[in-house]
Amino acid sequence: STVTPTKVTSIKTLAESSAALSSVPSAYAFTINPNDEADPNDPEFAVPIIDMSLLTCGSPDQRSKIIQDLVKICQEWGFFIVINHGVPESLMKAMIDSCHGFFSLPESEKQEFKSGNDVLEMFKYGTSYNLALDKVLLWRDFFKVRTHPEFYSLNKPASFSEISLEFSKRTREVALEIIKAISESLGLEPNYIYDAMNMDRGLQMLAGNYYPLCPQPEHAIGIPHHTDHGLVTLLIQNEMKGLQVEHNGKWLTVDGPANGFFVNLADQMQILTNGKYKSVMHRAIVNNKAARISIAIPHGPSVDTTIAPSPELCDREGQAPKYLAMNYKEYIQLQQSGKNYMKSTFDHIR
Ligand code: SIN
Ligand code: FE2
Repeated sequence: STVTPTKVTSIKTLAESSAALSSVPSAYAFTINPNDEADPNDPEFAVPIIDMSLLTCGSPDQRSKIIQDLVKICQEWGFFIVINHGVPESLMKAMIDSCHGFFSLPESEKQEFKSGNDVLEMFKYGTSYNLALDKVLLWRDFFKVRTHPEFYSLNKPASFSEISLEFSKRTREVALEIIKAISESLGLEPNYIYDAMNMDRGLQMLAGNYYPLCPQPEHAIGIPHHTDHGLVTLLIQNEMKGLQVEHNGKWLTVDGPANGFFVNLADQMQILTNGKYKSVMHRAIVNNKAARISIAIPHGPSVDTTIAPSPELCDREGQAPKYLAMNYKEYIQLQQSGKNYMKSTFDHIR
């Protein structure tokens, strides 16, 4: 079947409405190389786990041990799973169910949330990544809402607003705790990153992704490889796997405790640490068993912050800054302009 990219409203509608969709339409053709995948049983690919209860209520020794572990994890992986974070499992599940409820609305109702292409839109529903720019369409529908510094919400389904308010608040607390520990792991004051990034007005978004069942998962992609633009992103998913992170030159499909948060470091963290900590390359693959839902909650500086490598860190390491200073909002615009498609935006400001 042929698909006209500008006419596509939703991959869910396309994939689920016609029983005849037995292959990936050419506009969506993308090749996954199975030889690039990591063996999840190889200890080299055991995803690091951070027990947050030891950060918040452990002994001083337990806390400093976790902070030491973070140094290595942030340098070598830029990715970990956080457990015992205090966000109730019931709330995480309710958030996934609300997202499912949203994506299950009739297409015409979802289209009411379609909006322009401004990166700081209060909310947005769409498909692929950016239909005007995409060279290959993505097997993914999404919505995004801005939840901090001002809280916006979708008003459908009915429970969405209440659940996303509570979920985004609780998740932000987890992210701020992680950011504090990361500051300490760098030998900086616990509030260093919070203050330098104006986190009291820090940007938080809640992005829901829906990846319908795909007849040929190795010939399509949910989200191609990229790094995130902010500081840290937390992510949860329904019972389906699909997030892959790049580690030691391989793609690892991450799996982990259902009540954990996946955490990836993002570009502003790499820039701030002058490349010491890694903004991890990641992507979402699709599958032919069941629809996958993921919810990414990116946390960044306030949008008017100018981010540059930390002078304290550069001085201490005797290094020249490796990245140019840039305003966060402009950075996001640069990323979303498509100029850096499947590349890290920081490559642009080296
Ligand atoms: C993302 O990178 O934004 C989402 C990845 C996923 O769905 O796991
Ligand atoms: Fe991402």
